[in-house]
Amino acid sequence: MPYDLKGRNVLVTGGSAGLGEVISISFAKEGANVAVNYFNRPEPAQNVVQECKKQGVEAVALKGVSPLALLKAAKPTFESNPDGGAFISTGSIAAVSQSGSSMPYAVTKAAQLQLIKCLGATQGPKIRVNTVLPGLLLTEWGKKYSDEKIQWAKDTAALKHETDLQDCADAFIMLAKNASITGARIQVDAGLNVQGT
Ligand SMILES: NC(=O)c1ccc[n+]([C@@H]2O[C@H](COP(=O)([O-])OP(=O)(O)OC[C@H]3O[C@@H](n4cnc5c(N)ncnc54)[C@H](OP(=O)(O)O)[C@@H]3O)[C@@H](O)[C@H]2O)c1
Repeated sequence: MPYDLKGRNVLVTGGSAGLGEVISISFAKEGANVAVNYFNRPEPAQNVVQECKKQGVEAVALKGVSPLALLKAAKPTFESNPDGGAFISTGSIAAVSQSGSSMPYAVTKAAQLQLIKCLGATQGPKIRVNTVLPGLLLTEWGKKYSDEKIQWAKDTAALKHETDLQDCADAFIMLAKNASITGARIQVDAGLNVQGT
């Protein structure tokens, strides 16, 4: 049974730029009210708030929060909501591959993936916990890769392009709506890291 997003309250960490910006606006288009979390720059966050409001929903900008602390803070609300709630983290294919990213980043994302599995296994029945693993996203941050590395990623991907930002944001919407998925990872990487069983 799908979880209707209309009128829900959604907080998007890193929601002011890059992938988070697209996710914030995508949730607003689904009719959800959006809290746009940012870290350093309030202005881009306010711009995203205005974009969300154009969809007829409420939106606010919030400064810096840690995802695990957030889940702890949201838990009582999720538990008291008759339909429960959903927590979705942004991982990376760096969590499951051994090339293309720095070791500290890859190890951090691998730890985050395990955290999501542990939370998925323990936080039910009312709370769903999932993660999306993007491949190369040409955000402000992704564009800092060298032209050679970006071309390598496109050439290596089975679909021969980078990960489309809207396609990636749509995976978050799907996970928010789907009431039968928890502890899962959805890889949206244009086939950059196709894995065996
Ligand atoms: N780009 C890629 O190729 C790629 C690939 C795989 C996974 N990912 C993952 O996707 C997510 C989004 O990445 P992105 O490329 O859109 O760009 P990003 O630069 O990681 O995200 C920009 C957003 O994150 C906020 N932010 C920056 N540093 C932060 C910090 N230390 N703590 C909390 N928030 C912070 C920014 O706020 P301010 O502007 O206010 O600082 C802004 O809202 C990240 O988790 C990244 O690891 C990205």
